[in-house]
Amino acid sequence: AWGLPSNLRISLAVNVGLSVLGFIATSSIVATLGPTFIKANLRGIDLNKETTKRDSEGNLVRPIEGIAIPESQGTITAAVYILVLSVFIPFAFASYELDRFPHAEMAEYLAAVLTITFASFMGFADDVIDLRWRYKIPIPFLATLPLLSVYYANGNHTGVMVPNQFRWLFGDFVELGLGFYLFLLWLAVFSTHAINIYAGVNGLEVGQSVVIAASVLVLNILQLLRIPEEFKEYRENHMQSIFLIVPFLAVSLSLLQLNWFPAQVFVGDTYCYFAGMTFAVVSIVGHFSKTMVLLLIPQLLNFLYSCPQLFPFIGIPCPRHRMPTFNVADGTVCNSFAEFTPEELKPLGKLAYMILKNLRLVHVRSLKEGQVQMSNLTLINFVLYVFGPCREDVLCCRLLAIQVASTLMCFALRFGLASYLFDV
Ligand code: UD1
Ligand code: MG
Repeated sequence: AWGLPSNLRISLAVNVGLSVLGFIATSSIVATLGPTFIKANLRGIDLNKETTKRDSEGNLVRPIEGIAIPESQGTITAAVYILVLSVFIPFAFASYELDRFPHAEMAEYLAAVLTITFASFMGFADDVIDLRWRYKIPIPFLATLPLLSVYYANGNHTGVMVPNQFRWLFGDFVELGLGFYLFLLWLAVFSTHAINIYAGVNGLEVGQSVVIAASVLVLNILQLLRIPEEFKEYRENHMQSIFLIVPFLAVSLSLLQLNWFPAQVFVGDTYCYFAGMTFAVVSIVGHFSKTMVLLLIPQLLNFLYSCPQLFPFIGIPCPRHRMPTFNVADGTVCNSFAEFTPEELKPLGKLAYMILKNLRLVHVRSLKEGQVQMSNLTLINFVLYVFGPCREDVLCCRLLAIQVASTLMCFALRFGLASYLFDV
C-alpha cells in the first residue's frame, strides 16, 4: 500500500471505515431530519421547477404551497464530518509512544478541524440570518489564523522553486515569507466563497465539490507513489491531506444523491463554506496550495466574470438570484438577466459593460428608452449563452465536465510541464 509503514496503513483503514459510516449516517440523518428542518423554517423553494412561476424580472410570483424542500442540509454533512474526524484523530495517533508523540502533527489536525468548523458555523449563520458581506470577508480570514500559526510553528516552507529557465536570474529558490502567508489567507477567503457564488443549479454545489475532492485524493495518491525514500517526511503531509479529504468525499457523495436533479434537499451556504474551507485547509496541510488554485479554475473564472456585479464601485446591478430562468413551455433552463440603463452606470460599470458587450461575452437584449437586459455574470449563464438552453441536469453535467477538464489540465501541468520546468 504505497510503501506505507504499518501505523499509517492502520490509520488509513480506520479512516476509510469511518468514512463509510459517515456516508451512511449522512444519508439516513438527511432523510429523517427533513421535516424538522422545514418546521424550523430552514426550507427553500426550487425556483427552476414547473411548480414555480416567475415574472419577466425573475421575481417569484406564485410559489405553490407545499413544494418547499429542506434547506441548509450541509449542516448535517459538516456535523457528521467533524464527528468522524473527532473519532479518527485519536486513532491516527494511537500507535505512538508518549515520548515520541508527534505533537506538531496533532496540532495541525486540531487547527484544521477548528478552521473548518468555524467556516461551517458562519455558513449556518448565513443560512439563518443572511450575513452582510462586510462580515463574510473578515470571518474566514480570522478563522484561518490558528491553522497558519501551527503551519508557522512547524517550520513549514514559505518559498517557491524557480523554473530552470529563470534560475540564472532568481536562483533556485525564492523565499516569499509573509507574502506566502498572505497568499494562504487569500486562498482561504476565496475558496470559502467561491463555491457559494457558483451555485443555483440542482447538484452543482456538491457536484463541483465532489470533483475537486476526488481530484485532491488522486493528486495525493499520485504524489505518494512518486516520493523517493529520502523525502519520506512529505509522505506524512500527503497522508494527512488524504485523512481529511476521504471523509469529506464520503459525506459529500451522500448529500449529492439527495441534491441531484430533481433536488429533494438544498445544501445551503453551510455546505458551500464548509466545502470551500476544507479545500483551503487540505491544500495548506498537504503543501499543495498553488496546485489547489489550478483545481479551482472554474470557480476563479466565475469570480472574475462576476466582479462587475459583486463590487458596488463597478456597480452593474446584481439581482438577489443570478441562477438561470425556467422555461415553462419546454422544461429547460435559460439565461437570467439584469436590467439597467448603460448611460446611468458608474464609469467603471460603463467600461465593463462595453468590454463585455463588444467581446460578445454576454447576451444583451435592448429594451425601450435605452434600457438593456444583460445576462447575469456567472459561468452558468455564460455556458447557457454559448451552448443554449437545456434541461437543468444537462446543464449541471456540462458545468461538471468543465470542472473535470480543469482537473485534467491541472494534472498535465503538475506532472507534465513541471518536469520540464523543475527536474522533478
Ligand atoms: C448565491 C448567488 C445567487 C444564486 C444563489 C443560488 C451570488 C452573488 N449569489 O446566493 O446568485 O442565485 O446562490 O444558490 O452569486 N435554489 C434553487 N435551486 C438550486 C439551488 C438553490 O432554486 O439548485 C434556490 C432555493 O430557493 C434556495 C436558494 O436558492 O432556497 C438558496 O439561495 P442562497 O444560498 O441563500 O443564495 P446565496 O448564497 O445568497
Ligand atoms: Mg448559497
